[in-house]
Amino acid sequence: MFSLVKTLAVIGLQFGDEGKGKIVDFLSGHYRIVARYQGGSNAGHTVKVSGNTYKFHLIPSGILQGATCVLGNGMVIDPVQLENEIEMVKEFSPMDKLKISERAHVVFPYHMDRDIFEENIKSSNKVGTTGKGIGPAYEDKYARIGIRIIDLLDKEKLEKKLEMAINLRKNYLTKEYDIKELSKRYNEIAKKFKKNIVDTSSFLIKNIEKGNPVLFEGAQGTHLDVDFGMYPYVTSSNTTIGGAITGLGIPPKYISKVLGVIKAYTTKVGEGPFPTELHNEIGEQILKKGNEYGTTTGRPRRIGWLDLVLVKYSISISGVKYLAISKIDILSGLDEIKVAYAYEYDGKVIKNIPSDIDNIMKIKPLYRTFDGWEFTKDDVKKEIPKNMKKYIDYIEKYTGTKVSIISLGASREDTKVLKTI
Ligand code: IMO
Ligand code: MG
Repeated sequence: MFSLVKTLAVIGLQFGDEGKGKIVDFLSGHYRIVARYQGGSNAGHTVKVSGNTYKFHLIPSGILQGATCVLGNGMVIDPVQLENEIEMVKEFSPMDKLKISERAHVVFPYHMDRDIFEENIKSSNKVGTTGKGIGPAYEDKYARIGIRIIDLLDKEKLEKKLEMAINLRKNYLTKEYDIKELSKRYNEIAKKFKKNIVDTSSFLIKNIEKGNPVLFEGAQGTHLDVDFGMYPYVTSSNTTIGGAITGLGIPPKYISKVLGVIKAYTTKVGEGPFPTELHNEIGEQILKKGNEYGTTTGRPRRIGWLDLVLVKYSISISGVKYLAISKIDILSGLDEIKVAYAYEYDGKVIKNIPSDIDNIMKIKPLYRTFDGWEFTKDDVKKEIPKNMKKYIDYIEKYTGTKVSIISLGASREDTKVLKTI
């Protein structure tokens, strides 16, 4: 059913929440190592297996399939959240499976404090962050005052680093921090997973060279990428393929193929432009039926039609050859389904996204309309209906990719392989 590409990257092609966690869980049966390369607890992946629901923010969902899970150097890790997640999946022996990069940066409470403080003073220019301290943690990394996982293991050194980091940013903090206490607490947490803290780049290279199959997991989506997303309404990392190289410390030749994940429609949380956004009953219907509420913040997601202009742009940046389409069951029962194939901008038809945010606000999507279909998870073993096939064929043709997987429900079993990778 599934031929094995030795190393496969899984990347979100929209605004995040494409269903990457579910696809990674599904593929982890084939890939024994899953490595995440960027982001932090801003990510939220809900995975349902045998009636149990797991909500992941840091650990790749591959842990549920017994895969060894790597948290790469490109990530920003909140150790408290990591401890909670380890506890959540304790029946899967996470302590035997986790490899945490020594070089990954740490998210401290003062990063979350600053994230929320800065959002609040931005008033009408808010990004709508998750409040998980992601931007400030990456800022500190690039300002060279960040604290890395390896630093947590030496309490005295940690205290000095905390002192400098907090002092430099004190005008942006709303609370006082007891540095001794913070250092003690984080040192104690880190000691619990001391043996999991390793040089993950060497670990991955060694395994890839031995021929072990590895899956690279991207968090967020291309249009949240700090370079290629709709800046400034983005996250603070490279969610696209380049992020996998720097965020894991592997050469490009070790990424054989890229699988892009899209939702059958589009969702977005947070502020910023959303060309195909629906402000009508269909949008409401999809929100409810798709249970489109953020895993991390619980916020209702904004809903829109599938935007193939955005998807194609993502495909070109990351060299995507295969697609997985999630939540295609949610569209079942609609009379018609729309897909944006171009935009109208300044009296012209364009098939690219302007890089300036004010210009993105002015574009109007042009839609192609498809007849609806009935096909739900109960039909997973059946042939896909004619109208759904037309929709999928159009996506393939437009994007120049192959749709390999469709997902018809939240559970692992509700996944259908259409074409091998
Ligand atoms: P997964 O991995 C959807 C959004 C936030 C906000 C912007 C910046 O589940 O796909 P941040 O806290 O990162 O500084 O917020 O990015 N965002 C996500 N949206 N899915 C995610 O992750 C997201 N991670 C961040 O809503 O608009
Ligand atoms: Mg999510």
